[in-house]
Amino acid sequence: MKTLFLLIKLAKMGAIGKEITVTMRELSRELDVSPQTVLRWLEELKEQGYIHKRESRKGTLVELTEKGINLLEKLYEEISTALYSGFIVGEVISGIGEGAYYVRQYAPLIREYLGFDPYPGTLNVRVLFPKTIFDALCTARPIIIPGFTRNGRTFGDVRAYRVRIDGIEGAIVIPSRTVHPPKIAEIIAPVKLRDALNLKDGDKVRIEVV
Ligand code: CDP
Repeated sequence: MKTLFLLIKLAKMGAIGKEITVTMRELSRELDVSPQTVLRWLEELKEQGYIHKRESRKGTLVELTEKGINLLEKLYEEISTALYSGFIVGEVISGIGEGAYYVRQYAPLIREYLGFDPYPGTLNVRVLFPKTIFDALCTARPIIIPGFTRNGRTFGDVRAYRVRIDGIEGAIVIPSRTVHPPKIAEIIAPVKLRDALNLKDGDKVRIEVV
């Protein structure tokens, strides 16, 4: 585990595709362990075949081997799928009471594009994980609900991402001109989620992106 951090550090320092010069002092400072420990970890990484390491007049030269690079790539993939396989964790909050008005305006289009009659309102969720809704939605495909004009008022395009909360189908809606920071997810659903799932402000919800 500890040596893995050293391997990552070396990769960040540019030891992929070329040798870099390292000093035990610098690495020990960066990793907050003694220079002796760094040396031992480097030896371990070398013995396990994750790095090439040799001494030269310039100092210690290291470079990740193919095995070392493969390990990091594999880990990256595994961590990404573990964390970003399309779910959001957040807590229910109250909005400013505007959701109902907007959902009513878009209702016929929501029926057409998403296939359900929305409860008039949006359930606002403050995203705790990942950092922003975009981190969770970047691989999902949005359904674009086209904008329109009604009584001289313009309603812009809305991006909708299908989701499921405790088995109930709904969608995260992101207006093209949103006032919400990317930490707030607005959810529409055919039912009042607060009633259906017995939710109150501060309750934790897990939203699955489907
Ligand atoms: O903006 P604000 O949170 O005040 O409310 P709204 O968007 O006008 O929605 C009215 C109420 O219904 C709020 O308490 C929402 O959290 C809730 N709601 C819900 O439980 N399920 C939905 N599908 C939509 C809204």
